Amino acid sequence: MARLPILVAPDPRLKQKAAAVGAVDDALRALMDDMLETMYAAPGIGLAAPQVGVLKRVLVIDIARDDEPKAPLRMVDPEIIGASDEDCVYEEGCLSVPEHYADVTRPAWVTVAYLDESGRRREQTFDGLLATVVQHEMDHLDGILFIDHLSSLKRNMILRKLLKSREKKA
Ligand code: NI
Repeated sequence: MARLPILVAPDPRLKQKAAAVGAVDDALRALMDDMLETMYAAPGIGLAAPQVGVLKRVLVIDIARDDEPKAPLRMVDPEIIGASDEDCVYEEGCLSVPEHYADVTRPAWVTVAYLDESGRRREQTFDGLLATVVQHEMDHLDGILFIDHLSSLKRNMILRKLLKSREKKA
């Protein structure tokens, strides 16, 4: 297991569409384990492969709190096959958009088809926080960040601040 460096916006690699995986092998399982270790260490509740520079349709999620047992989800080639008409608003953040948070409106529940870590096809419906996290992470696979759901004014303000703090660190 290894911790991987997380890309921070604006980075062109975060804006690319990731490729379908097709089959789950040991290398992919190792990638998902590394992604989970990276996510737990950050700490975060979701991480998509493009955030660690791997353009594959892979994501990991765990919304369990510190006092709860770990409940990792590993998803390969996820696809939304159903969504509610009803919307939900959550304040979102992102490990690739550090220290910025904003309300994002998304369907309140989604049904997702995906391959699990053993390559088995699953269909699962997510609601509440999990629905938001799954949709947020799936957006990453298409090069979409949560700030892309905001007005261009808000988005550009956040991107400018991220660039500024990067310059300060450099
Ligand atoms: Ni994110």
